[in-house]
Amino acid sequence: MVRVFNASYTSMYHVTSQAPPLQEQASPMEKQLLLLCLLLPAPVTPHEPGPLPAAGFGLCLGIGSYYIWNRISPGERCKDLGQVDVTALQEDLEKRVFGQHLAKGITLRGLSGFVKNDNPKKALAMSFHGPTGTGKNYISQIIARHLYPEGMKSRYVHQFVTTLHFPHVQNFEMYKVQLQQWIRGNVTACKRSVFIFDEVDKMHPELIDAIKPYLDYYEHIEGVDYRKAIFIFLSNTAGEVISKLALDFWKAGKVREDIKLSDVEHQLSLSAFNKNNSGFWHSSLIDRHLIDLYVPFLPLEQQHVKMCIKREIMDRGIIVDVELISKVANDMTYYPKDEKVFSVKGCKVVSTKLNLYLLPTIMDRPRNLNIFSGFFNFVSWVFWGICSSISNFFHFVFWAIFSLFLNIFYIISWVFWGICSSISNFFNFVFWAISSLFLNIFYIISWVFWGICSSISNFFNLVF
Ligand SMILES: Nc1ncnc2c1ncn2[C@@H]1O[C@H](COP(=O)(O)OP(=O)(O)OP(=O)(O)O)[C@@H](O)[C@H]1O
Ligand SMILES: [Mg+2]
Repeated sequence: MVRVFNASYTSMYHVTSQAPPLQEQASPMEKQLLLLCLLLPAPVTPHEPGPLPAAGFGLCLGIGSYYIWNRISPGERCKDLGQVDVTALQEDLEKRVFGQHLAKGITLRGLSGFVKNDNPKKALAMSFHGPTGTGKNYISQIIARHLYPEGMKSRYVHQFVTTLHFPHVQNFEMYKVQLQQWIRGNVTACKRSVFIFDEVDKMHPELIDAIKPYLDYYEHIEGVDYRKAIFIFLSNTAGEVISKLALDFWKAGKVREDIKLSDVEHQLSLSAFNKNNSGFWHSSLIDRHLIDLYVPFLPLEQQHVKMCIKREIMDRGIIVDVELISKVANDMTYYPKDEKVFSVKGCKVVSTKLNLYLLPTIMDRPRNLNIFSGFFNFVSWVFWGICSSISNFFHFVFWAIFSLFLNIFYIISWVFWGICSSISNFFNFVFWAISSLFLNIFYIISWVFWGICSSISNFFNLVF
């Protein structure tokens, strides 16, 4: 994960979340934390036990442990850039970056001079220009890795992408404040911080101007010394001019490696920054000469694309296949239309294109590979047959036994039901018969009495 600026954080949060290195002086925030640690346990006396001193002690212990751990843990340190192994950086650039003799030379010389100087006059500001996929991000990643082993993931390397971190132009005032806080906070924590601004041509000019003080020749600003920081600006600005220059060289039959910085610089000064839509155009970074190095990236030819493919294949640990390299290289698009000299996307899509050739789809897969695959396919089917038969057999046996038990209990339940309901019916009948017999006797008696009584009544009725 690349450590990037998050507009919602405050710089203070960031500063307190990281411990500065041993050789650095403690920052004001650290001093405050230490003071807090010293003062908090003060009310803890044997006569005043209570939750507040206990909580204070716990908090102090936590902060203290965190502070000490950050100091003694073997994690990354903000280091003196003088420790950078320039030879290793050079070897890495030679081994990994193709077709960029100017960019490699300028960055290497600029960086090695800067890191060797223990008292630089200003922060190093490099501006990378060129068409897409030519290695601007790639070289900045390599530089970051040689400054700090964790490279772009390092807590001392900060990458800002305009469309990601400063997407809404109207919010530039807010971004300006946050960006300045971020830079100040991180340089306070580590003077040797690296700030990479990608898509800088899309950045609001005022936002670029906000960085200006940190690139200028000040010994310190509000007590912070920015002169050991490194700023790298990436953009496609002047990409067309650089491409045209490279094409002219090619057409004239000249060797590409003969292109000198002075040739490009001249072209750049003519038109590169005179575009209204370029953030650099009215930025005082240019006017005040605060950019130390303009680094042009040339468009890549097919031979360079092939080298990128080869490097990618080797990095993946695959055996290098010349035919595969040609296939992938031919699958890329080149310009101008007729001459097809330069790759439209440089080496940018090499990795994706290679995947297409390395991972054959199911449709492409040959049906009968060879006798061994057929044999093992057959064996696998035989095993499948045996295993599934055994499984089905047990399935049947268990099913039969299980259903037999089920049926037995089912029958038993019916038999019981029959017996019980017969007994119940019998008793039902007996009780009904007895009760109805008694009922009828009394009923008859009642009628007999009624007959006798009503006859007597009628007799007397008649007599009187
Ligand atoms: N000159 C080069 N030599 C070797 N590999 C390269 C070179 N240029 C680009 N690549 C490969 O292409 C990938 C993409 O390049 P990178 O991101 O540096 O392009 P970019 O110049 O930043 O392009 P964009 O302007 O579009 O951002 C890199 O990760 C790297 O693998
Ligand atoms: Mg890029």
